[in-house]
Amino acid sequence: MKFFKIILSLFISIILLTNCTQKTIQKEQKSLKKTFENDFYIGAALNEFQFNKTDSVETALIINEFNSITAENMMKSMHIHPQKDTFNFKQADKFVAFGEKNNLFIHGHTLIWHSQLAPWIKEIKDSTEMVNFMKNHIQTIVNRYKGKVNSWDVVNEALNDDGTLRKTVFLDALGEDYLALAFKLAAEADPVAELYYNDYSMADAPKRKGAIKLVKSLQEKGVKIDGIGMQGHWGLNFPDLKEIDKSLTEYAALGIKISITELDITVLPNPFEVHGADVNMSFENNETMNPYPNKLPDSINNKLAKRYEDIFKILLKHKDNISRITFWGVNDGQSWLNNWPINGRTNYPLLFDREFKPKKAYKTILSLKDGKE
Ligand code: XIL
Repeated sequence: MKFFKIILSLFISIILLTNCTQKTIQKEQKSLKKTFENDFYIGAALNEFQFNKTDSVETALIINEFNSITAENMMKSMHIHPQKDTFNFKQADKFVAFGEKNNLFIHGHTLIWHSQLAPWIKEIKDSTEMVNFMKNHIQTIVNRYKGKVNSWDVVNEALNDDGTLRKTVFLDALGEDYLALAFKLAAEADPVAELYYNDYSMADAPKRKGAIKLVKSLQEKGVKIDGIGMQGHWGLNFPDLKEIDKSLTEYAALGIKISITELDITVLPNPFEVHGADVNMSFENNETMNPYPNKLPDSINNKLAKRYEDIFKILLKHKDNISRITFWGVNDGQSWLNNWPINGRTNYPLLFDREFKPKKAYKTILSLKDGKE
């Protein structure tokens, strides 16, 4: 009997211990999406090499960490609408299917943009022709992904740094009415999808003023606009945290949602004072411009973590008005910042290193929620 009791208590102890270890493991298996699930979506921009892979470490990481995806390039006009009568949906379809399969919030980027523009669109001068292009382009794309793509960047980068309207083929042909037209067409094609205006340097005072004016003018015309996208191509020292905070407050006052749509933080020298993200800029590479070709020094890795921490503290403060935070890429090796604004550098702007290992910034961000909820 005594022997039986000993065996029984040993058995119970083993069960309790296993249970306890399981709980610890569960508790330790944190992720970005789980940590911020009550705050905002956490997204990543994906290119075709990423969503075409199956069963890779990367696919597992994307599904585990993120609950939203953005099309990095394949929905831009040069790829999706290369000629007047030709749409190329191959990669965009796969991107959307990846999102649906994995139950992710899907963001379409971008319908009307002057960069990465199909060459034939650049030639449009006549206003009727431009209206016809916009109708065909926006309706065809939005319709195809109706009920699948949850939100769209309807217009991207319509503003100059001083807040005035950028001179583009669209502005030249239609004047500022092209903005309202784009949003109206998108809303008609899918009344449920959320519609965003997206731009860089959105925390800088002059552009902020221009963006607020733009949104108000659409609202006054009764045009549906659901949100502002602040791209978030930021650096270790810019923009000022106070300006990010102020911008979030002022955009929220418009009664619309805010997304941080393309977050990355460059750690490389920026002697040209480039604070924006104009994809058409390019400068020459040299050793001074590319100081960490092999490894990110600990001191800079720490600075990056601190910067992400400071930014996320502000984002959490404004969580009620922020719908989504999307990183522009998954790991450092895939970031566009290795080639912009200087080609061929080694940058470290994201939360995962080139081997998909979480960096200090990842852990720092997650620890902001320790003990909360
Ligand atoms: C970038 C892509 O990441 C690159 O692969 C491409 O070569 C150029 O465009 N603002 C935007 C994004 O709205 O579409 C840009 O993406 C980065 C700046």
